[in-house]
Amino acid sequence: MTKILILNGPNLQLLGTRKKEVYGSTTLEEIRQNLEKIAASFDVELDFYQSNHEGDLVDRIGNAKTEGVDGIVINPAAYTHTSIAIRDAIEGVSIPAIEIHLSNIHAREEFRHRSMTAPVCIGQIAGLGPDGYEWALRAMVKYLRSK
Ligand code: DQA
Repeated sequence: MTKILILNGPNLQLLGTRKKEVYGSTTLEEIRQNLEKIAASFDVELDFYQSNHEGDLVDRIGNAKTEGVDGIVINPAAYTHTSIAIRDAIEGVSIPAIEIHLSNIHAREEFRHRSMTAPVCIGQIAGLGPDGYEWALRAMVKYLRSK
């Protein structure tokens, strides 16, 4: 069975109450539930994980190969803009990854315009709110099935 790891970085556990004007009112749990429904319809197994710690995310990516993960969808949150470690982990495991952001990082503060991780991903979705996770999952399934 195809297995997709959905990774969420720091502060995303606060979705629903955090800066609603930017991130909306959908909670991370609601995003997870929606993705689980879509995954079931595709007969895909999901592993959904959130951490506020860079090393945890690096570990999850590093272990993905041995855990049989076929694709990664990742919202690295603030680590997007700073983490060479997460970038190197994605590059190092050679598992296709899609980067996702709820907000349009390119239309926000300048420090958010640069992504350390996007160059090692097959693509990036930004600015579509929680729906972006759904499109990223659908895109990953289509990508993997086309291989
Ligand atoms: C974010 C955008 C990042 O710049 C920010 O640090 C986040 C969330 C997004 O989903 O829009 O925490 O990744």
